[in-house]
Amino acid sequence: MSLVDSDNSESIDDILALTNVDVDEVFHAVQSNADAIYTWDYEKGARLGLEKLYEKAKGSQWNGQTDLDWSTDVDPERVAAEMSGSDQRSQFVRGLMTSPGSPIASWGDKEIQQYEIETFAHRLSQFTHGEQGALVCTAKIVETVPWIDAKYYAATQVVDEARHVEVFSQYLNTKWPSDYPISVHLRALLDDIMNDSRWDMTYLGMQIMVEGLALAAFGFMHQMCTEPLLKKLLRYVMADEARHVAFGVLSLQEYYQELSQAEIQDRQEFAFEATIRMRDRFLQQEVWDRMGVDTKSMIRIILDMPEEEKQFQQMLFSKIVPNCRKLGLLDAGDGWLRERYQEIGIIEFEHHLDTGVEYEVFDLPVEEKA
Ligand SMILES: [Fe+2]
Ligand SMILES: [Fe+2]
Repeated sequence: MSLVDSDNSESIDDILALTNVDVDEVFHAVQSNADAIYTWDYEKGARLGLEKLYEKAKGSQWNGQTDLDWSTDVDPERVAAEMSGSDQRSQFVRGLMTSPGSPIASWGDKEIQQYEIETFAHRLSQFTHGEQGALVCTAKIVETVPWIDAKYYAATQVVDEARHVEVFSQYLNTKWPSDYPISVHLRALLDDIMNDSRWDMTYLGMQIMVEGLALAAFGFMHQMCTEPLLKKLLRYVMADEARHVAFGVLSLQEYYQELSQAEIQDRQEFAFEATIRMRDRFLQQEVWDRMGVDTKSMIRIILDMPEEEKQFQQMLFSKIVPNCRKLGLLDAGDGWLRERYQEIGIIEFEHHLDTGVEYEVFDLPVEEKA
């Protein structure tokens, strides 16, 4: 089964219907509906896992200005070509250049080079916007989570996310020739997370889904990248992100035990909807628009990519699925989420290491800390 039901032309229209029309928008307001909760129970360490994370976070801070060498010369063409090597999508697109009748059959080296620069600009831009989503969402968690250990930890994450927005936007603005507004698929997901009045949904949407995907993506990018500034930036961000995903797993594991079957079903549906939105953002419709290519034909071709060439795209979900399993979301009730993940071809990741324990692997070795 493919990641999307490609026989359904409706689904392509639905994907394209969502497009960012206000590209000059500077501010985006969204209703935040949750109650801010004070707790008068100050017992530190009542939740040992969270306390341990908080202590680790305090000792793992870094400074994006002094720990990264911003004088590094970056050659976008070289970096873009390197990153494309890790991405089966780019390999597939290269193949289309020699495929008669394809929308990019007229492309030569210049166009494909530009495409690779744009596609990485799109990816980095969405990570920057997603990092701001994390900044705002974790500030919301500080307000809404009822447990003091979680408020303490979330406060450290707010600082981490500020740093991530800072370093990704600085890299884009000073080292890369172009950038993109937020993908509407990502914006819709961030809006849903903020709108929801249930405090645990911020965790599920942000810590488990958005950050789970980011951690997987940063991992692949870090592996492929030889550009020293970006490589170090990614390594530092990943050390933080692994803690963030662990924060979600540890908190929700406890809370979900109190929920009814109907409430868990809501969480399963929310998780699946978030999965679909994140998948659609990777179609990068805005890049095709900017390159002057017929977007609808291109997206249809990409959705019809051979199964084995979608591996990279599906690997992006390799952290999300085991974390959903650890939270009991895959098999709760009649196993609704397991079935959905089977249908879209990502259930195979369920036994990968879950991030509740994995964060220590990502910790920065002492010699890497400034
Ligand atoms: Fe982050
Ligand atoms: Fe994060």
